[in-house]
Amino acid sequence: MSFPKGFYWGGATAANQYEGGWNEGGRGPALTDFTTGGSVKEPRMVTWMDKEGVIHKTPNKPMDDTLPEGAVKYCEMEGCLYPNREATDFYHHYKEDIALFKEMGFNMFRMSISWSRIYPTGFEAEPNQEGLDFYRAVFEELKRNDIEPLVTIHHFDTPLAMVEKYGDWLHRDCIDLFVKYATTVFTEYKDLVKYWLTFNEINNVISLCSMFGGMFNTDEEYQKRCTHLHYQLVASAKAIKAGHEINPNFMIGCMLSSPTVYPHTCDPEDVIKAQHEMQECFWYAGDVHVFGYYSPFAKRIWAEHNVTLDITEEDKAALKEGTVDMFTFSYYMTNNTTTHKGEAQVGGNFAAGTRNPYLEYSDWGWSVDPRGLQYTLEITYDRYRIPLMVVENGIGAFDELEADGSVHDPYRIDYFAKHIKTMGQAIDNGVDLIAYTPWGCIDLVSAGTGEMRKRYGFIFVHKFDDGTGDLSRSRKDSFYWYKKVIASNGEDLSK
Ligand code: BG6
Repeated sequence: MSFPKGFYWGGATAANQYEGGWNEGGRGPALTDFTTGGSVKEPRMVTWMDKEGVIHKTPNKPMDDTLPEGAVKYCEMEGCLYPNREATDFYHHYKEDIALFKEMGFNMFRMSISWSRIYPTGFEAEPNQEGLDFYRAVFEELKRNDIEPLVTIHHFDTPLAMVEKYGDWLHRDCIDLFVKYATTVFTEYKDLVKYWLTFNEINNVISLCSMFGGMFNTDEEYQKRCTHLHYQLVASAKAIKAGHEINPNFMIGCMLSSPTVYPHTCDPEDVIKAQHEMQECFWYAGDVHVFGYYSPFAKRIWAEHNVTLDITEEDKAALKEGTVDMFTFSYYMTNNTTTHKGEAQVGGNFAAGTRNPYLEYSDWGWSVDPRGLQYTLEITYDRYRIPLMVVENGIGAFDELEADGSVHDPYRIDYFAKHIKTMGQAIDNGVDLIAYTPWGCIDLVSAGTGEMRKRYGFIFVHKFDDGTGDLSRSRKDSFYWYKKVIASNGEDLSK
């Protein structure tokens, strides 16, 4: 039996893509409420007003929440659809959804708290009681169903008022505002939630620079993104310290995307390039979270891109005192890198590098690499030696809804069977993996493209890209399959 007794099986979601209820219960706006839908070819757009009062629509720059040049504020544009606003409406369906999770056998459910539901602008002195009550009701419902919540405190949704004032995380004040928010939720839910994650995919902000090059690969971008990341790392560490004081039993983790990079050839130049990309994209933030300080290679990255960071003595002490109890990450694909010219490139949203001839690719251009998950687990555990969780994994695919309401998704079953198998192999090889929460266990809005048709769920939600759909839920074939997997604690992967 590869998977230990008590292993956590579940699924993962995020408020901005799932919760909806964007203007209910006293919630304030977040930037994702002003981001339109896109596709693998068309970027998502943001809509904003200039100082003359003219409304514009321009491409959303990934992982960069500063107002576009000339903008005075974000606002709506007539005729635009903003898919994250209603999303797939957990806000009004949470009881039904939790019952479905229970039916599948989940003993863990990953969700995030929407910051602007607790502090509508981020600046209030007192939290919004209705927001606190909503999450209390959700956590109590989970408890009644014996499902352990795994709660992300920040998942891509800084309150809009903070984004407009500070250009997202480009100001130190964000640290205290976050710690205030984190302290509020730690205190409020200290008896209902044990497992917490501070920032979702905290490393994305910088990994885009080396992976995507082009407009992200300038000294100015690095300066901005390293600053943003530094403030978030300090905020995370301070929140962790505060959390442990509130409840010493809390298990608080970081959450990184794993951009596992392979050298495209065995040319040592490619090997060094891949190593440096791993340092920049993964270990840079991971090492700070786990070890409590920047690793020596950070100096190389700063020097190469003329970055000067505002790291105070107080920051250094905070980073030391706020290390994580567990390391969690999302895993979707691996990327190849090379110094050689002329190799075929991958296409797709948030996929970079050269095409790996040994792998297949999804309709959105993401490689499918189950062995890469095992490799990522093993190198990460070798490095950190603290419990690991895979808190996102899955395949975004076009699902066909049959006339009788069923959805036949053998491709999803195949994907999960292969990934669960290699996770088991990593455990057999000594990795302390304690949880697996596949992404978008119920259909939700894609973060990268804003689409509904890029579906990940075991549960189909009747919501479509034109905004139609009655939001009803139906079980896909993978629902029954995953239920069987959980019941056998990962042993029975048969299709
Ligand atoms: C991760 C994010 O990057 O990948 C999720 O944490 C996101 O928010 C997921 O949804 C899948 O990406 P996408 O673009 O397919 O939604």
